[in-house]
Amino acid sequence: MYRHRSFMIASVLAAVLSSTASLTAYAQDEPPNPPMQQWSFSGPFGQYDPEQLQRGFKVYREVCSTCHSLKLLSFRNLADPGGPSFTEAQAAAIAATFQVTDGPNDKGAMFQRPGKISDYFPPPFANDQAARAALGGGLPPDMSDLAKARSYDEGFPWFIVDAFTMYNEQGPDYIHAIITGFTNAPAGFSQPPGTYYNTYFPGHAIKMPPPLHDGQVQYTDGTPQTVDQYGRDVAAFLMWASEPKLDERKRLGFQVMIFLIVFSGLLYFTKKKVWHDVELHPELEKPRAPTEYQH
Ligand code: HEC
Repeated sequence: MYRHRSFMIASVLAAVLSSTASLTAYAQDEPPNPPMQQWSFSGPFGQYDPEQLQRGFKVYREVCSTCHSLKLLSFRNLADPGGPSFTEAQAAAIAATFQVTDGPNDKGAMFQRPGKISDYFPPPFANDQAARAALGGGLPPDMSDLAKARSYDEGFPWFIVDAFTMYNEQGPDYIHAIITGFTNAPAGFSQPPGTYYNTYFPGHAIKMPPPLHDGQVQYTDGTPQTVDQYGRDVAAFLMWASEPKLDERKRLGFQVMIFLIVFSGLLYFTKKKVWHDVELHPELEKPRAPTEYQH
């Protein structure tokens, strides 16, 4: 009996110890939260900076688009208000530099032609299998909603604070963090083959080689040509790609707030006017004697 109990205690202890051990191992694998960045489009009055979106587009186009598709974006969107503010002619010229698959033609075959402004961005690979085969097994996610889809749980009390400050930029923070998060693996980390160490990627093993280095993309407006700046600009561009109507939404929200404030004021004064005489009648405040009802 005595033996039996000590065996039970020992096994409970062993279970507790091993689960804490696996928890700590899990915690070590968990990436830290991406640092919060300053974004022109955060907060209730935030707006996109068209110049930053143009730079971000340049980074996407010259670097990321060789692996990542942007299927939901059409070339025409580049000229939409509240976006990178290219002119229609510029958007059409950009479209013409891409090759788009069209067809079938009279002979039933698909063919390639230069893009038109009404086309969507063509994907770099015909399908997921082709992408995996070319990239050593890695599958680059489509970027149309990457900035909205990748969020992280900030935990209590930050999610409450965020509701008040309307902080909604965890997605771009994450993209910037991934771009700038490549470093040497710490001693003792066993890097799975075909992966690269990244501080902010879950498990720290990402199948994307570091895509950028300083000076890689030429900026013409004097903005620093650093990985940090490229990451910032491309993250802003991808935020716009996943939420192109953000400027409009914020402007509308603001107008609705102003309207509600003015409307409450009007209601208040209307109420005062309508009830003006009634409130001045002290007789009504007095309880009536029962005889008054007997007419
Ligand atoms: C050589 C191909 C290649 C290029 C170029 C490339 N990527 Fe990737 N990227 C990948 C692959 C493959 C993955 C998937 C990694 C994984 O699942 O381990 C990925 C994943 C990512 C992720 C993480 C997505 C997630 O699921 O959380 C981000 C963010 C990202 N890429 C951003 C970029 C940006 C921004 C650029 C351009 C500056 C870029 N990538 C250029 C191949 C590429």
